[in-house]
Amino acid sequence: MSKPSILVARAIFPEVLQSLAQVFEVESNQADEVWSAAELNRRMQGKVGALTTGSERIDAALLQANPQLRIVANMAVGFNNFDVPAMTAAGVVASNTPDVLTETTADFGFALLMATARRVTESEHFLRAGLWTKWSYDMFAGAEVHGATLGIIGMGRIGQGIARRGAHGFGMKVIYHNRSRLSAELEAECKATYVSKEELLKTADHVVLVVPYSAESHHTIGAAELAQMKPSATLVNIARGGIVDDGALAQALAAKQIAAAGIDVFEGEPSVHPDLLKVPNVVLTPHIASATIQTRRAMAQLAADNLIGFFTQGQAVTPLNT
Ligand code: DGY
Repeated sequence: MSKPSILVARAIFPEVLQSLAQVFEVESNQADEVWSAAELNRRMQGKVGALTTGSERIDAALLQANPQLRIVANMAVGFNNFDVPAMTAAGVVASNTPDVLTETTADFGFALLMATARRVTESEHFLRAGLWTKWSYDMFAGAEVHGATLGIIGMGRIGQGIARRGAHGFGMKVIYHNRSRLSAELEAECKATYVSKEELLKTADHVVLVVPYSAESHHTIGAAELAQMKPSATLVNIARGGIVDDGALAQALAAKQIAAAGIDVFEGEPSVHPDLLKVPNVVLTPHIASATIQTRRAMAQLAADNLIGFFTQGQAVTPLNT
């Protein structure tokens, strides 16, 4: 019997590709180009499954042009590149990679918070530029992290990981806002107190965004929200581009309306709002919150296991719509 044909839309670990090749006829994009929608559609012809990353959009047009498609496995926990209702209507299983990246992404959220609060990259640029001539009492003085108030917007698994790091590791007071309140057990474990978004913005010393992207969460932080934050506060976005209005953020940073920001995800990435590139008080990283070899391998393997599970056992491991 011939093997089912699948598309692996971006480069992944060779060993994961090998595990797929045992079960499937695999067309893979080892050149790792980001295909246009037309090219993705062309490559998808005849494929019954696909492994994608957040860069490939699975929408109604692609589904209509590929009625043979049965499952698309995203190598990401976020899935705003999927039109899940359209996939469900077309009978296509959607899956993502929850859990395997939680702790690594929370680590990075904390790294970005520390780098932002303590002005790590700004001071490094200063040093590399040969501008360091003497020690001064207030040179690159930043914001305290230990004992400060940490405000987390989006209290899913990653948000909870950041809360635990803040509360248990740094003695921070943790407040959070989420669509629904955590159970009393989880609140106690994370030492986190539920507050309104307004109270969080007004009182937090450091605001971390970990909310999934949707039409409702678009521009969760815009000019009005930035105006509510303390002038000494910092903002970290490891969620998705589009959660923050990047233009409004650049303005707020330039005007010192807030002290600093750490941003890993951007509206329209890999493009970055040009005004963000002009302000010194922002740490900018290229969407790397889950980027350790171990975690990226686990994400790739879970995405592969979703395809393998679906075709060999009739059930994806971590489906979104079944
Ligand atoms: C995710 O998993 O959603 C990340 O953003 C991709 O690394």
